[in-house]
Amino acid sequence: MKKALLALAVSSMFTFASADEKTINATMSLMTQGMNQIQTGFLYSNKEDVKNGIEVLENANAIFSKVDVTTFIKHNNKVQVTKNINNNLADNLAAFKKAIKAENYTEATTYYGKVTSNCIACHTIIRGW
Ligand code: HEC
Repeated sequence: MKKALLALAVSSMFTFASADEKTINATMSLMTQGMNQIQTGFLYSNKEDVKNGIEVLENANAIFSKVDVTTFIKHNNKVQVTKNINNNLADNLAAFKKAIKAENYTEATTYYGKVTSNCIACHTIIRGW
């Protein structure tokens, strides 16, 4: 399962120069899978699921941070903002991983919230939500 996700992430990387809608959707689908896996991990007290979910998100974010988002953003002046969100997401995922490693699950849920708000922040800009 994890291997398949990584393979998908890597294969997306090669086609990403074009940043077409298909690859964006594939990356966002990885983002969604990662979030679901984390949530399942929390609810079933399964540390490995949380850890693997974070890894999926890190890979998806790494791919997405290389994308030329100008084609997706109607508000082109916000491109730098989306790059900042990518950086914040990377930082929050690193802190999230650290909290999980330390088995500090209460703190970890705070980072789960921050990661969720990073997702929403970017979508708000992209869609003018
Ligand atoms: C830096 C920007 C950015 C971040 C961060 C981001 N996304 Fe996205 N997301 C996009 C873009 C661009 C699209 C495609 C454009 C669209 O659907 O309007 C998209 C679309 C999606 C969609 C498809 C929605 C639909 O209506 O079809 C899902 C699901 C999604 N993202 C999940 C996530 C999750 C989960 C996260 C956080 C873990 C996340 N995204 C973080 C930019 C981002």
